[in-house]
Amino acid sequence: MKNAPTVDLRPYFQTLDDLSPSIDWDEMFEKDQPIELDVGCGRGLFLFTASTTRLDTNFVGIELDYREGRRAAKRLAKLEQPNGRVLGGDAREALGKMIEPASVSAVHFYFPDPWWKKKHKRRRLFTDQFANMIARVLKPGGHLHSWTDVEDYFGVIQALMDHHADFVTLDPPDERDPEHDMDYQTSFERKKRKEGFPIYRGLWQRR
Ligand SMILES: C[S@@+](CC[C@H](N)C(=O)[O-])C[C@H]1O[C@@H](n2cnc3c(N)ncnc32)[C@H](O)[C@@H]1O
Repeated sequence: MKNAPTVDLRPYFQTLDDLSPSIDWDEMFEKDQPIELDVGCGRGLFLFTASTTRLDTNFVGIELDYREGRRAAKRLAKLEQPNGRVLGGDAREALGKMIEPASVSAVHFYFPDPWWKKKHKRRRLFTDQFANMIARVLKPGGHLHSWTDVEDYFGVIQALMDHHADFVTLDPPDERDPEHDMDYQTSFERKKRKEGFPIYRGLWQRR
C-alpha cells in the first residue's frame, strides 16, 4: 500500500535523534546484562539469532537505512524480544558521542559496504577514527568481531586493528557448515558464501 502510515515500532526501533544526546542502557533494557552492538545490522539476521539464543545478553543493532532497521526491529517486535533493539542512524554518532565509554562487551561489524570505486573508497566506514570509537565504547576485555568477503577492505581493518595500541589480535573462528538455510552469521554471509566467495574473519580484544 502506497503512503501507508509508518507503524510505531518503539521500543524495538528508535532513532538516534529520539535518544539524543546520550543512550542509557538501563532505560533501554529491563535486565542489566552485557551489551553487544551490531554496527550496520541491515535486516537483522545476526540480531535476531543472537537475541533469541543468548538471552543473557542485550543486543543493539545500529542501522543507517531506516527501512532495513525497521525490518530488523519488526522481527524482534513480533516476539516481544526483551533483549533486542534497533537504533536508526549513523553508527559514528552513537559510537563517537552517544554511548557511554567502556559500556559495551562486544562490537560486531559484518560485511560493511565496500564502496568499490576508487574515488568512493574514502566513504568506507572503517578508518583509524572508527577504530578509536570502537576502543572508546568497549569495556576492557571486550571484543570486536569483523567479517567481510572484500579482501582489500579486510586488509585495511586488519592493519588498523593489529597495530592499534588498545587491542590484541585473537584467532578468528573457523568457518562452520550451516545446519539450515538461516544458519549464517548474517544475511550477507549467507549470500556471499552461496555465491562461493571466501569470507575473511577477524577477532580483536580490548586491552
Ligand atoms: C552490506 S550491508 C551488511 C548488512 C549486515 N551487516 C549483513 O552482514 O548482512 C552494510 C550495512 O551497513 C549500513 N551502514 C552503512 N553505513 C552506516 C553507518 N554509518 N551507520 C550505520 N549503518 C551503516 C548499510 O545501510 C547497510 O545496511
